[in-house]
Order: sequence, then C-alpha cells, then structure tokens
Amino acid sequence: CGIVGYIGQRDVAPLLLEGLQRLEYRGYDSAGIAIHSSGTGKSAGLKTAKTKGRVRDLEERVPARFEGTTGIAHTRWATHGAPNDVNAHPHLDAAEQVAVVHNGIIDNASELRAKLTADGVEFVSETDTEVLSHLIARAQADQLEAKVQEALRLVEGTYGIAVLHADFPDRIVVARNGSPVVLGIGEHEMFVASDVAALVSHTRQVVTLDDGEMATIKADDYRTYTTEGSRTSTSPETVEWAAESYDMGGHDTYMHKEIAEQADAVDRVLRGRIDERFATVHLGGLNLDAREARRMRRVKILGCGSAYHAGMIGAQMIEELARVPADAEPASEFRYRNAVVDPDTLYIAVSQSGETYDTLAAVQELKRKGARVLGVVNVVGSAIARETDGGVYVHAGPEVCVVSTKCFTNTAVAFALLALHLGRIRDLSVADGKRIIEGLRRLPGQIDEIMRAEDDIKKLAADYAEAKSMMFVGRVRGYPVAREASLKLKEVSYIHAEAYPASELKHGPLALIEPAVPTVAILPDDELLDKNRATLEEIKARSGKILAVAHQEQEKADHTIVVPRNEVELDPVLMGIPLQLLAYHTALALGRDIDKPRNLAKSVTVE
Ligand code: G6P
Repeated sequence: CGIVGYIGQRDVAPLLLEGLQRLEYRGYDSAGIAIHSSGTGKSAGLKTAKTKGRVRDLEERVPARFEGTTGIAHTRWATHGAPNDVNAHPHLDAAEQVAVVHNGIIDNASELRAKLTADGVEFVSETDTEVLSHLIARAQADQLEAKVQEALRLVEGTYGIAVLHADFPDRIVVARNGSPVVLGIGEHEMFVASDVAALVSHTRQVVTLDDGEMATIKADDYRTYTTEGSRTSTSPETVEWAAESYDMGGHDTYMHKEIAEQADAVDRVLRGRIDERFATVHLGGLNLDAREARRMRRVKILGCGSAYHAGMIGAQMIEELARVPADAEPASEFRYRNAVVDPDTLYIAVSQSGETYDTLAAVQELKRKGARVLGVVNVVGSAIARETDGGVYVHAGPEVCVVSTKCFTNTAVAFALLALHLGRIRDLSVADGKRIIEGLRRLPGQIDEIMRAEDDIKKLAADYAEAKSMMFVGRVRGYPVAREASLKLKEVSYIHAEAYPASELKHGPLALIEPAVPTVAILPDDELLDKNRATLEEIKARSGKILAVAHQEQEKADHTIVVPRNEVELDPVLMGIPLQLLAYHTALALGRDIDKPRNLAKSVTVE
C-alpha cells in the first residue's frame, strides 16, 4: 500500500493524485484522498473521495471543487476486507472529524472493534484501519498529537499512518511502527509518503522516521517525537536517486526499462569494490571480520519471491567459492516453522525493498535468538537494512515494476561478490579469485550482447504465448534460473508455469509433457551438460516442444537462445536475462498489464 500527504500553498488534489500514481506499484486495488477544504460554511471541513480500482479511476471521482492545500491519500493492496469503495482509505469517524490513511495491520482490530461497537460506534467498512479513526476521534486529549498517541496506545500491530483532523487544519500528524513513513522537506510546503518515489519530483530532502516515532508537519516546519511524546532530533538527508530515475525514460513500461538498464546496474554493484591486488572484493558495510568468516559453519539465506530465487543462486555461489554449506529458504516459511537457530550459522536476509514483512519478521526472530544476520538489500536505509548487523547493498537503483528484473540480477551479482570475499578468506586460490573477477568484469558487456537478441526473443515469445502451461527445468546451477524464469512468466503473463530440477522431471512431471506444454531448459556449458542433453531427449520422446537457453545451439531443442559464456559460477546471472525478455514479450503479446500484474503488489508489508 502507499501513503502520500501534502501541506503547503498549492492546490493539493492534483499533487496527491500525482503522488499516488508514483506509488501505485505498491498496491492498486483501490485508492482514496481526503483534504481540508478551504471553503467556508457548509463546504468547510474534511472532504473525501475514494474508489475501488486504479488512481486514474479516482481522478474521475475527485470533484473540481475539491479545493484545499492540505490533504492525505492512499493506494491500497487489500488485506482486511475486499477491494471496494467502502474499504478504500482514507477512513473517517462518524462525525467526519478525523481522516486516517494506514499501511500495515492492526492485530487487535477485532477486539477494539467489538468494544467500540458495544459503545455505540457504527462501523462502515470491514477494515482494521477504521478502528484508528474512531479511537482518535474519541480520544480525550486536546491536541491532535496527543489524541493520536492516546489511540496508538490501545493498538497492537504495524502501522504507517497519516492523520487529518477537522479542528487542526494547519497540520498532518504521522506515525510509524513497522511500515515506512518519510517526510519530504520543501520550501513553505511539506510532504509525507510511505516511499521516496512519491516525493522526489518535489524535493530530495527527506527525513525517515524510525519505528515508534511520530511527526507533525506544517507548511513551514516539522517536528519529530516518540509515541511517548519525547522530542527526537532528526536532520534531513538527500535522496540518493534523482527524480528521473523513477521515470520510464522513454520505454513503454518500467519492466522494459529495468530489463534494459541491467548492464549499467551491474556496473554499479561492482564499482569500487574489486581489489585486484588480493584478488578479492571490499564490501565496506559487511561487518564480518575474517575470523568470523572462517569460524562459521553454515550459511542460511532467507527471502521471498525473486529475492528467494536470487538467494538460491547466492547459496550455490557461496558453496562453490567459499566451500561452506549454504542453502536458501523462503523467509515466510522459516519464520513460521520454529527453526533451529544455530550459533555457527551466518544468516543472510535478501530483499529488494527491505520491507517485506515476512523477511523482516524472520530477521527479528533471528536477532531475538542471538543470531548473526546480514542483509543483501536494494533500498538504502530500509527496515531490513537497519535491522541487520551489516551487509551488501545491491545498488540496482529504483525498481518500479512489480516483477523484479534488474534487482534480481544485481542481487545475484552481489552474492557473487560476497561468495568471492568469503572464498578468499577461506580456501579460494588467488588464481580462482582473479578468474572470478575477470568474469565479473565481463558481465555488463555480455548483458548488452544478450539485449541485442531482443528481436529474436520477441518472435519466440509470440510463438510461446499460445502455450497452456510451461515447464522450466535446470540442473544445479540452472535450477534457480528455471525457478525465477517460471515465476517471471507466471507473474506477468498469467501463463501457468512450473519449475523443476531437470533430474526430477522423470519422477512425475514428465506426465504433463505434450505439444501444448513446452519446456524451457537451462543448459549451461558445465560438467552437467551431457546430463541436461539427456533430459532434452526424454522430453523430445514425449513430443514436447523445447526452448533451450545454452552456450551453443542445442540439436534436440526446437529453438535455442545462445547466451555468452562466462565462468561457470557466474553463468546463472546471464542465463536468466533472455528469459526476462521472454516473459515480457509473452505478456505483451497477450496484452497484459505488465507493470501491475493482477493481484500483486511490489512490497508486501503485511503477513
Ligand atoms: C512481492 C513481489 C515480488 C518480490 C517479493 C519480495 O511478492 O511481488 O516480486 O520478489 O515481494 O520482495 P522484496 O522487496 O523483499 O525483494
């Protein structure tokens, strides 16, 4: 979900709608806006407009007389209650004195709701957020800040909120606990948002609130304090990325832009980190000394979605280069299964946004149990980046399309750096260190080479778009690539797809193979190539169509996408890229909403 708010001199509705457009990748089930109307008499007070659907649907609902210079808005990814007009934020109290937008989940909402209902409060929506509006409206304190604090004391759960009150038209009060809130500092105007993406076109001076922190923003100043009321000191920081980085930059979709940017992105993750002399890399923020790196006996990588798949590639790289047993697991599973937390294991949390709640919760559980947790994160200063003991920033730049592409690739490269670093502390030779460094340096040029084959891949996509289902197979290094490629296709084209280790095909899924179910096979030129070719034979014998991704033409395949060869350990980084293009062009051929696939959101900040 996304929050945006403004207080200043300008007409607020267009500003909020523009902010919502920039946040829409965080949820697009419904949207809404509330403003302090600058009218007098009957037209004074809070005005709201909300609707199921996209921000452009909301635009149509916002009446022209929606005049004011203070307001808050929200775009929603439904958790409690179906996406409809009533459940859309902002939520008001019965007297329409208070308007609240909220990201996160109020865990004790049903108890609070029951109590309030018993007291005669009538609820209009099914959301947990509405509880907050009523609690704030009923609070005894005089000042809005104190009313919000009074309400928050009764609430358990996670929140990022922004609050308007009819009696306090000169301010917006915001609070954060587990869900990001960023203030944007302007000239005689202030912004608030759940994500800098909504602010950067107006200001790059931001203040990020901590958990347990609140702020009051007025047109000319802001102050921050804790939910207990004690002042906190914060000074604005400058956002790393310019406003243009959040634009489409001449592409038709963010997904295409982000796929096309990968050579530059990889260049960035490498920049300033390679140490030729010792054939290793410097990872300034890692915070893991050589003795610790030698002492650890296992590595466990946790993440969700594409981050988990990048972690699978990472685990293989760490095993291969550092010779430490390593594996990846969905963070969402790990946190629920009462895992044994081992003091000799190094835990690594992976996340583009640094906000995914399942991953964050896994980190918190690990830390509570005394584990050492590092982060491989894209968004600088995000919750997971802050909670971990150190880590590696991925430097992919802002990723807006819901499905991850450049961040996935950069995360895999960040893991290669980490694996090399750990390897060189352990037993990786200077010669092998040099070999990997040379491979890393070749990656950007090779990515450009893959991008040049886009037209051919587009033709293939037109052909494969008719498939009723697709199978993705790979063995060892190829398997995580198959997993990610299958996820990409599912997310963006809605074609059903499955990924299997190539060797597992014969143990069941081979039964699915028929002409309408093509297989994409990942065949790196490694020691397993012959085994992989045998898998192609098995598929061909069942008249299945095959698209191979390989380092040379595959005789048994109907089509081969030939990918430039790197070092075997790094090949997975490159082999996924043509399959991002395949998913993209398949979705395009099917007329899908590429940047905002149905039912999904980019950052899932709830359980
Ligand atoms: C959501 C997105 C996925 C993403 C996953 C993890 O489910 O739809 O594309 O891979 O979250 O996100 P993170 O920000 O933690 O990498």
